[in-house]
Amino acid sequence: MKNISKIISVFLLLIMTQSIMAQEHKAKVLVLFYSDNGGTYELAKEISKGIENKGNAQAIIKQIKVSTNPKLKDIPVASIEELATYDGIAFGSPIYFGNISTGMSEFLSKTVSLWTNHSLEGMPATVFMSAGSGAGKELAIQSFWNSLAVHGMVLVSNGIRGIENVNKNIPQGNTVLGVTSLASVKNVERPSESERYIARLQGENFAKVATALKGTFANKAATNNSSNEKSADINAVLKQKQIMLLQVPKPAGNYQPFVRSGNLIFINQVALKDGKILNPGKLGVTLNEDQVKEATKATMLNVLSVLNEAVGGDLDRVKRCVQLTGIFNTKDDYTKHADLMNVASDLTVEVFGEKGKHARATLGASSIPVNSSVEIQAIFEVE
Ligand SMILES: Cc1cc2nc3c(=O)[nH]c(=O)nc-3n(C[C@H](O)[C@H](O)[C@H](O)COP(=O)(O)O)c2cc1C
Repeated sequence: MKNISKIISVFLLLIMTQSIMAQEHKAKVLVLFYSDNGGTYELAKEISKGIENKGNAQAIIKQIKVSTNPKLKDIPVASIEELATYDGIAFGSPIYFGNISTGMSEFLSKTVSLWTNHSLEGMPATVFMSAGSGAGKELAIQSFWNSLAVHGMVLVSNGIRGIENVNKNIPQGNTVLGVTSLASVKNVERPSESERYIARLQGENFAKVATALKGTFANKAATNNSSNEKSADINAVLKQKQIMLLQVPKPAGNYQPFVRSGNLIFINQVALKDGKILNPGKLGVTLNEDQVKEATKATMLNVLSVLNEAVGGDLDRVKRCVQLTGIFNTKDDYTKHADLMNVASDLTVEVFGEKGKHARATLGASSIPVNSSVEIQAIFEVE
């Protein structure tokens, strides 16, 4: 009996090792997209299906920044640095005026150090885009190709692949460069069946090229990041440091969670967590310093959550933290407000690096609304 279970264990181990080796052998393709309304994401899913169709490649879907769209908010965000680690990248974006969308264009502008390090040279790339009417759809893919060509990527087009099976009774988004979807041509649900079909073919063909070219280029990571780029990708920093931004607290009166005036964002928060005040009360009477520090961290996380909303989920748009003011509910003779506020200051610098360094004021109060032990007022400069 013992021998049989030993044989089964060895057999299972062999199968697991083989499947791990097969996985490692597969081409790893990043399907990287930006989307406002979800149309590009729908295409990204079809492209991914196509990539995985023959079992020789693995598709990893990521977006370029955190989205506030409920359909997209849980999709992981890619860092600039990781682009160099794949065997191919399928890029997706909405079309803006026959061109790349602003979001994708901003993302590409952060890839300078990948470019100067030749990190993407020789790596295959393909492009898919979600359109409205389809105006300028080929122009848009072509202009996307310009940036990828400057990176030295190998551009994989569709040609007239799949044309025989496209339903020609309605307008379709297929182009010779890559698939698009005509999202505002609503005689059928979009992407249409034919657009989804072409997207899958595009993915399948791209996987073939990525598999063939796997290992033929350097996969060189960007090493000499410019300071500009280093300070970017705040979402990756949050992920790495396991800092979770909470749900934005709703205003309790006739005011806004934030106000933008020019390039400045003004935010005020108390220690609300999970719908109630964390560690309510007065320091030195009902609370000790550790409890107030915990409340201060929760308050600063609320500030960052509101800020995240203010910049549309793209914390890279924060140019700097200008000022933080910490107000603490303390006894009259308390003097160590600065120690309490350091929790908020440290968190801000941890997230934003140099850009997080700020001017600061701290003060004591005899009471704070809703019995919070702390209130933080924050001013950020944004793009
Ligand atoms: C500023 C702007 C410019 C646009 N320009 C075009 C265009 O030139 N051609 C087109 O077909 N659609 C255009 N559209 C429509 C979008 O490409 C379309 O809504 C797309 O499906 C959005 O993709 P998404 O669902 O992934 O956000 C434009 C949209 C915006 C906001």
